[in-house]
Amino acid sequence: TTLIRGQVLAFHADPFAVPAPDAARHDAAGAVAVAHGRIAGHGPIDAMRARFPQAVEIDHGDALILPGFVDAHAHYPQTAMIASWGKRLIDWLNDYTFPEEARFADPGYAATIAARYLDLLLANGTTSVASFCTIHPGSVDAFFEAAASRDMAVWAGKTCMDRNAPDNLRDDAQSAHDDSAQLLARWHGQGRAEYVITPRFSPTSTPEQLEALGALWAANPSCLMQTHLSEQTDEVAWVKTLFPEARDYLDTYESHGLLGERGLYGHAIHLEPREIDRLGEVGAAVVHCPTSNSFIGSGLFDMGLAARMRVGLATDTGGGSSFSMLRTMAAAYEIGQLRGLALHPAQLLWLATEGSARALHAADRIGTLSEGSAADLVVLDLGATPAIAQRSARAADIWEAVFPTIMMGDDRAVAQVYVAGRAVRPE
Ligand code: GUN
Ligand code: FE
Repeated sequence: TTLIRGQVLAFHADPFAVPAPDAARHDAAGAVAVAHGRIAGHGPIDAMRARFPQAVEIDHGDALILPGFVDAHAHYPQTAMIASWGKRLIDWLNDYTFPEEARFADPGYAATIAARYLDLLLANGTTSVASFCTIHPGSVDAFFEAAASRDMAVWAGKTCMDRNAPDNLRDDAQSAHDDSAQLLARWHGQGRAEYVITPRFSPTSTPEQLEALGALWAANPSCLMQTHLSEQTDEVAWVKTLFPEARDYLDTYESHGLLGERGLYGHAIHLEPREIDRLGEVGAAVVHCPTSNSFIGSGLFDMGLAARMRVGLATDTGGGSSFSMLRTMAAAYEIGQLRGLALHPAQLLWLATEGSARALHAADRIGTLSEGSAADLVVLDLGATPAIAQRSARAADIWEAVFPTIMMGDDRAVAQVYVAGRAVRPE
């Protein structure tokens, strides 16, 4: 057993359901006990020493120990074209994204980017992610292999597209189904890998492809399904013309078996009342991608949805402009302010950990400090830069102490990361 010492913040409730500061316990001199890659307990250091008298200790001083961040929606193949300038969604896809994704026909390139991407995540304190791949099955193998070699719990799937994409980035209904089924059989439940059925979004799938992937999901109900929903108004209008008989955007998924409790719907900004009702009724999750929504000019997500359904938080790289979940929490705060809702630091940290884990139906194994959960941890230096240090020195409580790091922190604030109990950086 190892005692990882520092300040410890542990949530025991959903800060959107109870007064936010009451949702977590803070131990200023605390420790997280780790054994065999899992969390064995947490609490005040004295109590932990009494409970684990043989434990070895690693001291992180007054750095803050949290569950590793969970990024609930990202595109690892867009790593090399992040921060591509001057376009809104559809032109951004056509001009920047699709040409880059075409390069993943080369498995060597896919392996290079997958490794680079996961190392960037770890440098930023993110220990789990749900990522889109490209249409190439090799892009999925490359990603799961890179994650396995780092022992990371990841969710990913082959991105399916059979229309409105270049020739070299199109599959068809049958091959999308069969390739996805093969990858699912190869990877789902292998170590910490989970396969996600992944139609990119309705504009790039024919009704036949959506139907085929809906059937695959019905046959594999333990899988998640991830896609995009109502990100930009031009996109919503385009979906109406492509699916004239659909009641709304969500119905293009619903009518093909692609709405369910294990569905993850990225963005979900421009929703109609029926869509909100249905997402809530079926227990689906929507994913807030704040840096992407401002970078691509999509709109302001309504965090009030957290009262009605599960909400994850995500970078959406490379539509998002940062790999950092700290930066992503800051953007979520700013978007909340623009909508008249100041999110509490407890809500931001919860969204980036347990909230995203709940969206992935994985809060029993990642995203919390609960006993038995994976020892995937991030250790944050709450004074990583002079600007942050001078501000947090005045803090009256842990929330004031952590908020400057949320707003102004980056990978310099990440003092250490543990994946399944193993330190990623040299101790
Ligand atoms: N909608 C369909 N594909 C994408 C993508 O790659 N990024 C974003 N942000 N939105 C999308
Ligand atoms: Fe996306």
